[in-house]
Amino acid sequence: MTEQEIEAPRLSGWALVLGASSGFGAATALRLAKSGMNIIGIHLDRRKALPGVKALQEQIEACGSEAWFFNINASDADKRAATLQTITDKFAERGGNEQVRVLLHSLAFGSLGLYVTTDDTKPLTQKQIEMTQDVMAHSLVYWTQDLVAADLLEDGGRIFAMTSTGSTGVFPGYGAVSAAKASLEAHIRQLAYELAPKHITANAICAGAADTAALGKIPGGDTIQTRALERNPYKRLTTPEDVALTIAGLAHPCTYWMTGNVIYVDGGEGHVN
Ligand SMILES: NC(=O)c1ccc[n+]([C@@H]2O[C@H](COP(=O)([O-])OP(=O)(O)OC[C@H]3O[C@@H](n4cnc5c(N)ncnc54)[C@H](O)[C@@H]3O)[C@@H](O)[C@H]2O)c1
Repeated sequence: MTEQEIEAPRLSGWALVLGASSGFGAATALRLAKSGMNIIGIHLDRRKALPGVKALQEQIEACGSEAWFFNINASDADKRAATLQTITDKFAERGGNEQVRVLLHSLAFGSLGLYVTTDDTKPLTQKQIEMTQDVMAHSLVYWTQDLVAADLLEDGGRIFAMTSTGSTGVFPGYGAVSAAKASLEAHIRQLAYELAPKHITANAICAGAADTAALGKIPGGDTIQTRALERNPYKRLTTPEDVALTIAGLAHPCTYWMTGNVIYVDGGEGHVN
C-alpha cells in the first residue's frame, strides 16, 4: 500500500489550525477536512499568496467541510480575541453546540541569524528573539488559554505543535528558533499536565526535514535537506502529507492516553547519526 492509498480515520468536529495556508498546516487542514472535520485556518499572508489560500479553502469545501480562514498575526492578542469572538458568534448562529476538537500550532515566523557576529553582519536583537519566541512558542499557550476561557475547547480534544530537531541541536543561524522549539516542547508538556482533567491531550510533532517555504528560508536549508536525504532510512524527505496523515491518526479518540510527548514523524531520520 502506498501512502496515497492510506485511508485516514473518520473524524468529526472542528480543527483550528494556526499556520493553515502552507506546508504542514495546509496539508493537515486538507487531510482533516477529507476525514470529515470543519476547519478554522489562521494564517499571515500578503496579497500575492491569497489566491493560493482561496484555492485551499475551496479544496476543503469540496470535501463537504466548512473553511473559515482568518488572515491575521496569530501572536497579536487583540486579533486573537476578535477572531475567537467571531468564531463564538458563528458557532452561536449554528446552534451553539460546537467546539474546537483539534488545535494545531504550525506557525513558521522566526528570525534567523547569529547571536554573536565578528564581521559587519548584525547579531539577532532582543526584539527579534522575543518575537520568535512569541510566535513560534508562546502563542500556543495564549490561544489555548483563550479557547479554554471561552469554553471553545472540547473535552477530549487534541493539541499538536510542530517542533523540530532544532529543539535539542544546533544549526547555524537557528538559535532563536531552536530556543523557541525548546519552549514549545515545554509548553506542550505543561498543557498536557494541566489539561488532563479535561481529557485534552497535547503532543509535539517533530517532523523530519520537509521541502516547505519555511525550510527554504533557513540559511543552509539545502544542506539540511541533503543531510536528511543521506540519513533517512527511506532515502526521501518528509512530506507535509506524511505529517498530516499522522495527525489525522493521532486525532482519533483512541489516542486518549498518549500525551505530553515529542513524537518523531520523520521515517526514522532522527535516530541516524
Ligand atoms: N519544514 C521543515 O522541514 C520543518 C521540520 C520540522 C518542523 N517544522 C515546523 O513546522 C511548522 C510549520 O512549518 P512549515 O514548514 O509548514 O512552514 P510554512 O512556511 O510552509 O507555513 C507557515 C505557516 O505559518 C503561517 N504564519 C507564519 N507566521 C504567522 C503569524 N505570525 N500569524 C499567523 N500565521 C502565521 C503562514 O501564513 C503559513 O500558513 C514550523 O513551526 C516549523 O518550524 C518544519
